[in-house]
Amino acid sequence: MRWLYFAASALLPLAAHAQNVTGKWTGSASRYDNGIEITVALEQAAGGSITGYVEGPRSNDRITSGKLENGKLTLEAERAGRGGQMMHVTYTAEISGSKMTLTMPQMTFGGRAGGRGQQAPPRPPQVFELSRVSSKFPGPPPEPAPRVSLPMPEPVRTELARTPPMGWNSWNKFAGQVTDAMVREMADAIVSSGMRDAGYIYVNIDDTWEGAHRDSHGNITTNNKFPDMKKLADYIHSKGLKLGIYSSPGPKTCAGYLGSYQHEEQDAKTYAAWGIDYLKYDWCSAAQVYENNQATMAAAYAKMGLALLRSGRPIVYSLCQYGNLDVGEWGERVGGNLWRTTGDIRDDWQSMSHIGFDLQPGREKYAYPGHWNDPDMLEIGNGHMTDTEYQTHMTLWCILAAPLLAGNDIRNMSPSIAAILMNKELIAVDQDRLGRQGVRVAKDGDLEVWAKPLADGAYAVGLFNRGTAAARVTAKWSDIGISGSHPVRDLWKHEDLGSIAGSYSAEVPSHGVVAIKVAK
Ligand code: GLA
Repeated sequence: MRWLYFAASALLPLAAHAQNVTGKWTGSASRYDNGIEITVALEQAAGGSITGYVEGPRSNDRITSGKLENGKLTLEAERAGRGGQMMHVTYTAEISGSKMTLTMPQMTFGGRAGGRGQQAPPRPPQVFELSRVSSKFPGPPPEPAPRVSLPMPEPVRTELARTPPMGWNSWNKFAGQVTDAMVREMADAIVSSGMRDAGYIYVNIDDTWEGAHRDSHGNITTNNKFPDMKKLADYIHSKGLKLGIYSSPGPKTCAGYLGSYQHEEQDAKTYAAWGIDYLKYDWCSAAQVYENNQATMAAAYAKMGLALLRSGRPIVYSLCQYGNLDVGEWGERVGGNLWRTTGDIRDDWQSMSHIGFDLQPGREKYAYPGHWNDPDMLEIGNGHMTDTEYQTHMTLWCILAAPLLAGNDIRNMSPSIAAILMNKELIAVDQDRLGRQGVRVAKDGDLEVWAKPLADGAYAVGLFNRGTAAARVTAKWSDIGISGSHPVRDLWKHEDLGSIAGSYSAEVPSHGVVAIKVAK
């Protein structure tokens, strides 16, 4: 083989030699990802075809084919998805001497629903600036260590989150752009807008706060976007709010930052010392170190559940593993106060309505005070749904007793979005102390009626129209399980409608809702 390569390369003109990209290239993301480092290993055959791999904290991609034309490189690669399925990624790169600018389109994870109609724009691509550190192909990537299997853990007890947590999270709108200054401004806006007084208490920093390396004692560090987490927590607390943070049971988070793998106790202590009140713990790269079975995943989550409990600070524990392996069956056991039930939500009707209407039924049996199904954070106000659709989003999440984590820019919130997020009558439905998750009680094509029992014996009822034209929707008392006459109140118009017998019908706009409370 080798002599063939030499023989062929000896025949190639000099210009082709200058274009050979074989070797090891390393560098980091120039935007958005704050120092994520990757290695690109390329082997260019005599005929010009290119293979190799891209190794980064977020992924290990195998390059199946590639070509170089006039300094422009295209690499076709395969990536193992979260569920083990293979995904296709195309990298493009420009080469100039020993420098490479590599562009990777941003991948979405967890089966985000694509949609018709108004689409959220794709995230901007990631760009990496690389330098060639060697002209030799470094050989195949190291074999991964065998995955660990663990037994089902002992139960972890928690008394927190007696009602679904409410607050704000940075990810849906800002992803990797979240900074200390932004979190402070958001906290100020949460107070001045009335969000805090409406119940939105947790200010949650999602992924991308972590430093590139642990310190010499193995303590997790922050990157330069978060100069002093303790000071930030003090500031948040001074506003009467609580601070949330994010990590992973794996070595890396979903955005490729440091996770808590083998540092669980230590990280929980650090969070407590900083004054953290809430942790979202996202599976991501844990799939590379743990076997994919219920006992092992539960044990991986219980490690942190126990560590939080022992940290000496009450820290709400949010599991994020996209609803896999029947999380409702064991989420409570590992100390989870809430657990995601699906892949990531997007700011579009199709994604939101599919997650909310289609993927929640059947999970109601797992929700009760302290333990909630999480259909993902709110997209209300992010701009790619109509106010009518956002009203549906809010109503459905409240009927589902879902955590209410706003995901918009509270600093620039229109009055109509503020009115949706701060509909106090619906928030009361979400936060009702009975803590029951509502269910669909009737469905006729695109028209659905959902009901949630409340502590005072009343029902919150949503008359939803998922269709493309306005329609009349009827909520029959018999479907809810009541009879006779009941006082009815419109929860969006904030109006009493009088005592009504048998059923209630209303004209509901396309993608809209009429929400009522039917008193005992
Ligand atoms: C996953 C989660 C998201 C967000 C990102 C951060 O995709 O499901 O909610 O936390 O990771 O990288």
